Amino acid sequence: DRPLRQLAADDHLRIGTAVDMSALADDAAYRRLAGSEFSTVTAENVMKWEAIEPRQGEYDYVAADRLVDFAHRNGQKVRGHVLVWHSQLPSWLTSGDFTADQLREILHRHITDTVRHFKGRIWQWDVVNEAFNEDGTLRDSIWLRELGPGYIADAFRWAHEADPRALLFYNDYNTEWTGPKSDAVYELVSRLRAEGVPVDGVGFQGHLGIQYGLPTDMAANFARFDRLGLATAVTEADVRMEMPADDAELATQAEGYRRLLDACLRARHCISFTVWGFTDKYSWVPDTFPGEGAANLFDENYRAKPAYRTLQEQL
Ligand code: XIL
Repeated sequence: DRPLRQLAADDHLRIGTAVDMSALADDAAYRRLAGSEFSTVTAENVMKWEAIEPRQGEYDYVAADRLVDFAHRNGQKVRGHVLVWHSQLPSWLTSGDFTADQLREILHRHITDTVRHFKGRIWQWDVVNEAFNEDGTLRDSIWLRELGPGYIADAFRWAHEADPRALLFYNDYNTEWTGPKSDAVYELVSRLRAEGVPVDGVGFQGHLGIQYGLPTDMAANFARFDRLGLATAVTEADVRMEMPADDAELATQAEGYRRLLDACLRARHCISFTVWGFTDKYSWVPDTFPGEGAANLFDENYRAKPAYRTLQEQL
């Protein structure tokens, strides 16, 4: 059996996973698969703001650098995740009493310092993550409230200044299919491009749940972004279900993964397909969606599930 990364190379596609740094340190089977099956990695948590600047002005890049080194040793590219988000912000920031001007300077600094620190070692940056509500309006966040909607364009400009060669992405979920939210992302990136803002790509997270029914028009949706000349990527794929899982559900899950990869393979500029972890042994799903799980390609004993076989055949 050839690993997914080799099969994907024939399609000029990188196949990726989010990496949990404690699993990488403590679990040899995890480390082996992370290195052998994938050609790009994303930090599941250690590049988030709360992790790299736990106290204002005190940076901690140790864990993030460890992942970048792991990637380098294994011939993998790195997706940087994430610069601007409403979540996992340090508490000094969210509970601090800052003026709008100060927050703008804090955000500018965060983007500049972070992107500079990793300069030349990050392939794609998720510059702005999850800025929209389901109805396509901008999400209420510290950034929108304090800086106004222009924070998005500013973030891309600042990131580009700090590392002109990194590919800069807008990333979101429930945008894989057409609808008000993906329309809003489409409008946003069209406008940014027209205004000369340095945005290179759109990431579709790909967090699906089989209980909602699988989306049908993902390929058409990816295609319209592709036609804008933008890169696209599946950035956080997993397909969850209510537990316990049975064979029929695992087959539906495989079909969910198949459709996500299919949308990517059909788009000319879809450059990577990343799963949000590869084993049910370590997954954010049970913690975030109580009663749900089994969302990954391998089970908790590292046995390949039908979804893995499906991707293997498809690549
Ligand atoms: C999740 C991580 O997987 C969890 O470990 C953490 O507790 C919360 O964040 N969208 C994103 C990711 O962009 O950063 C999130 O990751 C999952 C949803």
